[in-house]
Amino acid sequence: MVTARAGLVAAVAGSLPQVVVAAPNGKNGSSSILSFVDPLIGTTNGGHVFPGATLPFGMAKAVADVNVENQGGFSTGDVTGNITGFSHMHDSGTGGSPSLGNFPLFPQTSCPDDLIDNCVFPIQDRAVPRINGTAEAHPGYFAVTMENHIHTEMTVTNHTALYRFTFPQANSTSNSTISPLILADLIDLPLSRINGSASVDAKTGRISGSGVFSPSFGIGTYTSHFCADFSGADVRDTGVFMNNRAGTEPKNVSVVADGTNNSPDILPAGALTRFHAPKHNNQILARVGVSFISVQQACHNAEREIPNFDFAGVRAAAEKAWEDTLGVIQVKPGGVNESLQTVFWSGVYRAGISPQDYTGENPLWKSSEPYYDSYYCIWDSFRSIHSLITIVDPYSQIQMIRSLIEIYRQEGWLPDCRMSLCKGHTQGGSNADVVLADTYVKFGKMAAEYGVDWKTAYEALVNDAENEPANWDVEGRGGLHSWRSLHYIPTDDYDPYGVGPFTRSISRTVEYAYDDYCIAEVARGLGNHGDYEKYIGTSEYWKNMWKADQNSSINGTDTGFTGFLMPKYLNGTWGFQDPIFCSPLLNFTSCYLNPDGHETYEGSSWLYSFFVPHDMAALITTMGGPSTFVKRLDYFHESGLLYVGDEQGFLPVFQYHYAGRPGKSAERAHFYIPSQFNDTISGIPGNDDSGAMGSFAALTMMGIFPNPGQDIYFITPPFFEEVSIRNKLTGKTATIRNINFDASYQNIYIQSAKLNGKTYTKNYLQHSFFLDGGVLELTLGRNESSWGTRPEDIPPSLSTGHNITGYMF
Ligand SMILES: *[C@@H]1O[C@H](CO)[C@@H](O)[C@H](O)[C@H]1NC(C)=O
Ligand SMILES: *[C@@H]1O[C@H](CO)[C@@H](O)[C@H](O)[C@H]1NC(C)=O
Ligand SMILES: *[C@@H]1O[C@H](CO)[C@@H](O)[C@H](O)[C@H]1NC(C)=O
Ligand SMILES: *[C@@H]1O[C@H](CO)[C@@H](O)[C@H](O)[C@H]1NC(C)=O
Ligand SMILES: *[C@@H]1O[C@H](CO)[C@@H](O)[C@H](O)[C@H]1NC(C)=O
Ligand SMILES: *[C@@H]1O[C@H](CO)[C@@H](O)[C@H](O)[C@H]1NC(C)=O
Ligand SMILES: *[C@@H]1O[C@H](CO)[C@@H](O)[C@H](O)[C@H]1NC(C)=O
Ligand SMILES: *[C@@H]1O[C@H](CO)[C@@H](O)[C@H](O)[C@H]1NC(C)=O
Ligand SMILES: *[C@@H]1O[C@H](CO)[C@@H](O)[C@H](O)[C@H]1NC(C)=O
Ligand SMILES: *[C@@H]1O[C@H](CO)[C@@H](O)[C@H](O)[C@H]1NC(C)=O
Ligand SMILES: *[C@@H]1O[C@H](CO)[C@@H](O)[C@H](O)[C@H]1NC(C)=O
Ligand SMILES: *[C@@H]1O[C@H](CO)[C@@H](O)[C@H](O)[C@H]1NC(C)=O
Repeated sequence: MVTARAGLVAAVAGSLPQVVVAAPNGKNGSSSILSFVDPLIGTTNGGHVFPGATLPFGMAKAVADVNVENQGGFSTGDVTGNITGFSHMHDSGTGGSPSLGNFPLFPQTSCPDDLIDNCVFPIQDRAVPRINGTAEAHPGYFAVTMENHIHTEMTVTNHTALYRFTFPQANSTSNSTISPLILADLIDLPLSRINGSASVDAKTGRISGSGVFSPSFGIGTYTSHFCADFSGADVRDTGVFMNNRAGTEPKNVSVVADGTNNSPDILPAGALTRFHAPKHNNQILARVGVSFISVQQACHNAEREIPNFDFAGVRAAAEKAWEDTLGVIQVKPGGVNESLQTVFWSGVYRAGISPQDYTGENPLWKSSEPYYDSYYCIWDSFRSIHSLITIVDPYSQIQMIRSLIEIYRQEGWLPDCRMSLCKGHTQGGSNADVVLADTYVKFGKMAAEYGVDWKTAYEALVNDAENEPANWDVEGRGGLHSWRSLHYIPTDDYDPYGVGPFTRSISRTVEYAYDDYCIAEVARGLGNHGDYEKYIGTSEYWKNMWKADQNSSINGTDTGFTGFLMPKYLNGTWGFQDPIFCSPLLNFTSCYLNPDGHETYEGSSWLYSFFVPHDMAALITTMGGPSTFVKRLDYFHESGLLYVGDEQGFLPVFQYHYAGRPGKSAERAHFYIPSQFNDTISGIPGNDDSGAMGSFAALTMMGIFPNPGQDIYFITPPFFEEVSIRNKLTGKTATIRNINFDASYQNIYIQSAKLNGKTYTKNYLQHSFFLDGGVLELTLGRNESSWGTRPEDIPPSLSTGHNITGYMF
């Protein structure tokens, strides 16, 4: 591990409290929670985690940017990845190109021969290796030392990054004094700049500017602004650079679209301030405010949030914010090692990074509603992130729901993916439908009291289901005419009504079906029985692509399982796509949004054939009954067909619950954690996707994985002796306690359970447990038992009577 977590851990080692308690004053216990957060987990091998300094859902996200695997700014794996600058906004865990990273600062200790022009300016030329092992990351803090011995620390407020550069001492072989130069570059991580301008104030050294950039997985452009002030050294001179030349005149620089954007040849340009030797400790502080509104607002944000460059104070406030967020959870480890505690707390932490709260920073419309951005992407986040936020920070979840509804009001569509104020690409269905329904059924009434307008939300849901947009690559759904007339998305669809990637007919069909089920739930709650019946009907359309006699072979050997989702043409005849094709570990050729893409997205027919979250009873019958279903699910997990590093892999870990085998879900949970989720820098199996992998680990280890969109949590034994969660809105605490717990996980099978002292046989919980508080006691043993196995103990399915209704109006 390239982490320097050791210091903090040492501070609590030996006195590790048995119960890690978040004391109300944020002292003792809660600071030991933060020592179990390692932001460097998932910073190599495709995790793309942003490991820098941020507040919960904060807009400012500061980190060192490197020139390899830099989706999240910094990465740890390839030690030859060099630092190109320090920038102030990022996204976390994304799959495609890097995001944001606009206007990086880059410090140099002195310019050779004391000539500004002899410092290095272009991003490709100036990159400096970091010293291996110096990266240090904690909630609200990040630090790293470059090989030129400049040590850079950073912390943040909501819209402002604060950097502290410590320059190396001058020594006899160099000049006797140093004269640091700090530049601000009109560039971003994906090198997407279209145009930009920067200026520098000769007196104060303030550098400010603006630029137009492209989003990392979407359409359109966005404009961003920054304002950098310095403290700790007197200004010596100021100027600008272009290409590899710099001078003290003029004081501003402007670059227009030069036709080379998205190219490494993009014209280097920016402004700079040079200082006399720092006054104290060879340190210079740089405070960078960011804004999407104006330079003036960027400066104002910085002045308001960090008036006096108090690094320690800003860092302490950031830690306090994280203690408040994480501190609603208490864990009694019961002897479980620090490594697993780190996996857990780091997972909860990463689910608190995105989406970002850009309220007050949205130039697109005027509104008093909150504005969150970087729903990146809801196709990923609906499966665990929003369910975890709902439990630990329901107020923020409500703000996010309000923001989604406002995006619909203003732009006419709910987003499916959104970043940098732009529309992102849709991967499957219209999955905001699931996020809205999830909140509606779990605590919709309370959300309404906090300002969620369910009437407009419902309008947005119906819009997704009924109206095909001109560009369904970025909103809504495609193929709606065929959906209505044929009741599936044909593989050779005739769809002149809108434009999008005409691929993924199987995965879109099963996702649209589930999205419609979610709409039906809300319709029912709102008393709209006609719509309820209609969308329940369309939620069964997955059956229309089910080819009952289809079998599947691997390397010529029949797997023995029959019945798979298969391509189906307009004329009603079947097509063929090998059921194992698009399994990430087997054959994954053009399984993204490629123009030559296939009928399943980022997963095989094997995988999508399990995706009927609302009617598992019908699926189990279709697959030949519970015992065949369990064998098939086992095979799916054990053959390499399931890749848990893609979010569709999460639900199958727990689908045994529907076959009356909750013990097998617990086995699978332990199969994947820690083998695939651990506390190494490569400790997550796929892109974190805004905290998806983190929230999967956290929910799984708490023993309450959801079936998102429904008021259901599958009960499995928590990975700790006891877990408690205080609901921030109701103030009530829900506790799950394992009896006969053993830290070596021999006893992972529930023998019996009690909820608030009464025998409890259902193998699932509802959200009321978290709202009302209570105690669930699970008595564990070494073997599967009859607990939670009877038909009446199994979570409800559409075809067995869907009695879970959540809050009704
Ligand atoms: C909190 O920590 C301080 C200093 O480490 C210690 O003296 C004090 O006893 C602790 N308080 C509790 C309640 O653990
Ligand atoms: C990083 O810098 C070192 C030393 O200058 C160089 O050898 C290496 O190729 C650079 N790596 C990258 C990815 O730029
Ligand atoms: C050393 O620094 C001083 C002022 O910072 C400058 O005047 C002088 O030219 C420098 N000398 C060298 C050799 O860089
Ligand atoms: C960097 O440090 C890590 C762990 O501290 C070590 O495994 C790795 O080999 C080091 N790399 C180099 C190039 O020294
Ligand atoms: C950051 O913004 C959030 C949301 O508006 C607010 O609740 C929080 O107090 C702010 N944090 C700080 C440290 O100002
Ligand atoms: C002295 O300064 C030079 C030039 O900055 C640097 O290369 C060298 O490593 C420094 N020596 C020491 C002992 O710090
Ligand atoms: C920068 O680009 C934006 C968007 O393309 C455009 O509106 C603006 O006029 C451009 N500004 C300059 C100075 O070229
Ligand atoms: C199929 O056969 C190839 C070549 O023998 C082998 O590499 C691969 O692992 C096999 N795949 C499966 C799923 O058994
Ligand atoms: C149905 O359509 C498919 C795809 O265009 C075509 O290959 C097949 O021959 C058609 N079958 C019939 C019976 O028309
Ligand atoms: C993967 O599947 C594609 C499309 O079916 C096929 O063309 C290719 O040969 C397959 N590759 C391997 C290694 O099986
Ligand atoms: C940690 O997780 C990664 C990613 O899933 C995995 O490749 C690695 O084998 C795991 N390490 C251990 C020691 O289990
Ligand atoms: C659903 O409710 C009905 C009537 O209250 C009841 O008879 C039935 O058993 C319930 N079904 C489930 C799965 O709970």
